[in-house]
Amino acid sequence: MSRPLLLCPSILAADHARLGDEIAAVEQAGADWIHVDVMDGHFVPNLTLGPPLIKSIRKCTKLPFDVHLMIEKPELSIAAYIDAGANSITVQAEACVHLHRTLSEIRKAGTKAGVALNPMTPLTSIVHALPFVDLVLIMTVNPGFGGQAFIPEMMPKLRALKALSDARGLAFDIQVDGGVDSRTAGTVAAYGANALVAGSAVFGSQNYSQTLQTLRREAEQAALVPGQTPDLV
Ligand code: DX5
Ligand code: ZN
Repeated sequence: MSRPLLLCPSILAADHARLGDEIAAVEQAGADWIHVDVMDGHFVPNLTLGPPLIKSIRKCTKLPFDVHLMIEKPELSIAAYIDAGANSITVQAEACVHLHRTLSEIRKAGTKAGVALNPMTPLTSIVHALPFVDLVLIMTVNPGFGGQAFIPEMMPKLRALKALSDARGLAFDIQVDGGVDSRTAGTVAAYGANALVAGSAVFGSQNYSQTLQTLRREAEQAALVPGQTPDLV
C-alpha cells in the first residue's frame, strides 16, 4: 500500500446521546480520523447534523474531522464547516455544478478537499478533478443511511481509480464508505483503498479497540499482496 492505512469511524452509527464519549472512545481505540456524515434531507433522504454540532464536538478529540457532505449546493456552507473545525471536506460530485471551483475554495482555506462518487456515478465524471483533490471517496452503498449492504460491483471502479492515481503519480487518499466490516475491509484494501470508513461495524461492536485492530489487520494483510484481485465478496 502506497499511502498509510486510515481507519475512519463514522459517528452516524454512534450513540448520539453520548457523542463526546463515543468519539473519545474510538480515539482511544486507535481510530485515525473521525468521519462526520452530514445529510440534508434533500440530496439524501436523511437528516443528520451541521456546523454547530461539529463545533461542539471538536473539543472531544485531537483526531482530524473528515466531513462528508451529502448535501445540495455544498459551496454555500463550506466556510461554516471549515469554521466549525473540519480538517477535510468531501463533496459529492453529483451535487457540484462547478466542482473545480468548490474544491479550490476548500483548499484555499487550508482544508483538505475530497470528492465522493455515488455507486452509479462513473469515475470518468471526476477524471479532470483528480489533480485538485486530496481524497477520492468511492461510495459502496447509496448514501443516506448506515448499516446498508456493501455493493461489491464497485470494486472495479476502485481498482481503476488506484490505477489512474499510480499511472499519473497523483497523491490522494482513496476512501471507501458503506458496508465496511471485517469481511470487506481486506477486499477494499486489496482493490486500492487506504482510507476505510466504518460506522456500524465499529460503533455496533462491543469492543472498539478489538474491532479497529481486526479491520487494520484485514486491510494491511490484503494490501500487502501486490496485484491481488480477490473475488468480490
Ligand atoms: C452513508 C454514510 C456512511 C455510513 C457508513 O450515507 O456516508 O458513512 O455511515 O455506515 P456503515 O459503515 O454502517 O455502512
Ligand atoms: Zn460518509
